[in-house]
Amino acid sequence: MYLSTRACYREPAQIADGVFWVGANDCVKDLFESLWPIPYGVSYNAYVVVGSDGVAVIDGVDEHLTFEYLEKVREVVGDLDRVRYVVLNHLEPDHHASTPKLLNLARNAEVVLTPTAARLIGTLYRIPGGRLVEVRDGERLDLGGRRLRFIHTPWLHWPETMMTYLEELGILFSCDAFGSYGALTEGLFDDEVNLEFYLEEARRYFSNIVLKYSRNVLEALSKIERLGLRISVLAPSHGPIYRRYVDRILALYRDLSIPKRCVEVSVIYGSMYGRTENLVEQVARRFRERGVDVKVVDAARVHPSYTLSEVSNSGALLFIFPTYDASVFPPVKEVMNYLQVKQAGRGRIAAVVNTYSWGASAKEAVEILTKAGFQVVEPVIQLRPLPTEEDLRKLEELVDALAREVLKYEKCSE
Ligand SMILES: Cc1cc2nc3c(=O)[nH]c(=O)nc-3n(C[C@H](O)[C@H](O)[C@H](O)COP(=O)(O)O)c2cc1C
Ligand SMILES: [Fe+2]
Ligand SMILES: [Fe+2]
Repeated sequence: MYLSTRACYREPAQIADGVFWVGANDCVKDLFESLWPIPYGVSYNAYVVVGSDGVAVIDGVDEHLTFEYLEKVREVVGDLDRVRYVVLNHLEPDHHASTPKLLNLARNAEVVLTPTAARLIGTLYRIPGGRLVEVRDGERLDLGGRRLRFIHTPWLHWPETMMTYLEELGILFSCDAFGSYGALTEGLFDDEVNLEFYLEEARRYFSNIVLKYSRNVLEALSKIERLGLRISVLAPSHGPIYRRYVDRILALYRDLSIPKRCVEVSVIYGSMYGRTENLVEQVARRFRERGVDVKVVDAARVHPSYTLSEVSNSGALLFIFPTYDASVFPPVKEVMNYLQVKQAGRGRIAAVVNTYSWGASAKEAVEILTKAGFQVVEPVIQLRPLPTEEDLRKLEELVDALAREVLKYEKCSE
């Protein structure tokens, strides 16, 4: 699908009585956070809530869409002097690069944020301190018939994050939580779009950005439950707004946030001339014969964004790679490094198989994986591109040992 800028433009729209979407689709950026491919774009959802006593704007957009966003806010509220509050659920510039400009124009507006956000905001934006209103957890703001309640949900995925709940209508503005990649070209709501696509992209977004903070997601979910918040509409800041399938996205998040060790091995490999790849085929077959699901990832061809999503619940990761210039084959090393940043401490096992011609690089792999919190299973195998019978026997033993361990884990259905 090619997304032209024109196909990406979306008009502001009323999503509930007195509530409007004023966000923007980004079909220009290639990599979200300069890391994660977004071939189908991304949306920055921002909202306006109109009460009888005042208007609040909830979140904003990335820098290059500021003008489009400001026009939409103006279209919905008329005079920008009516804006009393700009709510910052999260300081990241994909949501608030536009905010300093909005504040220049909306001269009566104050910025509503958590105390942590108030401490951090000066590191990112120049906003006069006198315009900041810090809100405590659970504090409410009455716009006249429209009450906003602020729910602190720290570390989703920054320290200052909160959600905003519109009490009368049961709308939860959750910011990054429950978000997904993918511009909103077909519609704004879950029942207007290809939901399976967005749920898959929510899964990838989760593993790229939120997974590291899974414990905080679970805390946020139980807080929402404890507070008895009725959620009629779940309005994240990326991807579709949920009104019909709220339960599905909540269930997906709960499922993704509970670390699992499944009866599944991910074989992450690289191969320049096919010698290493031959081993991968044998290994995958043997795992399957032993009743273990196998995911095979060619690290040179699958972007780590997708790999992180694929492998997050595999009970064991098996890395098979050649030595390249005295180092682990770079695309495989990259996956290891990402795992260290994004999936450390999940209590999983890893195994290392290194092919080389004159100098092995298994030691380096073991070091990175150990740092990433994996228990590296013995034996670590180093073999030549044309393996001996003895090499192949050792490899089979390693596969069998991994299979025996992983078969003790949870059978996870997709
Ligand atoms: C550019 C390049 C650099 C390599 N550097 C090393 C090296 O530093 N040490 C080594 O033992 N083998 C090195 N090799 C050889 C490969 O690691 C070895 O032949 C490999 O196991 C081949 O696997 P493949 O057929 O799956 O690509 C290098 C090969 C290439 C093409
Ligand atoms: Fe964020
Ligand atoms: Fe975001």
